[in-house]
Amino acid sequence: MPVRRITKHGERVLKTACPSVDYGRIEGDLPALLKDMWATMNAARGVGLAAPQIGLSLRLAVVDVRPDGKSERFVLLNPEIVSREGVQREEEGCLSIPGIYAKLDRAARVRVRALGADGRPWERDAEGLLARAFQHEIDHLDGKLYVDRLPFEARLPVLDAIKDAKVRWS
Ligand code: NI
Repeated sequence: MPVRRITKHGERVLKTACPSVDYGRIEGDLPALLKDMWATMNAARGVGLAAPQIGLSLRLAVVDVRPDGKSERFVLLNPEIVSREGVQREEEGCLSIPGIYAKLDRAARVRVRALGADGRPWERDAEGLLARAFQHEIDHLDGKLYVDRLPFEARLPVLDAIKDAKVRWS
């Protein structure tokens, strides 16, 4: 079954920083794993998915924000943000915290470096939703959820909402 269960807020794997991936060790399993990640992301109507969201502590994520409705798929192996600029404040959500959204400041523009599905390095300047998605997914790989980045006074009501919603998620 290619669609995997998405881990939810409170599960340990989401709070754990993921170790870097040795491309040579994962290469053989990567096509099937990516297929599952895309299928899981699409079934949940997400714009990104990180490996810990399917229970794997690997520095790997996928992003497709479909600019203008057209698919542009990014595979991020061992990604890093090499520069960030400006601020954008938009509503953010997460497939691991379904049904809950909050406004959050992120860098307006970022430059991301990663390895792709073929093991080759790529770099990309991003802004708007794509920049936000890159930052959100890379946070997952560092064991962080967007709610962890909310200022204290904004975080408390969100944590209360999560507590109330948890029964529905399981
Ligand atoms: Ni997320």
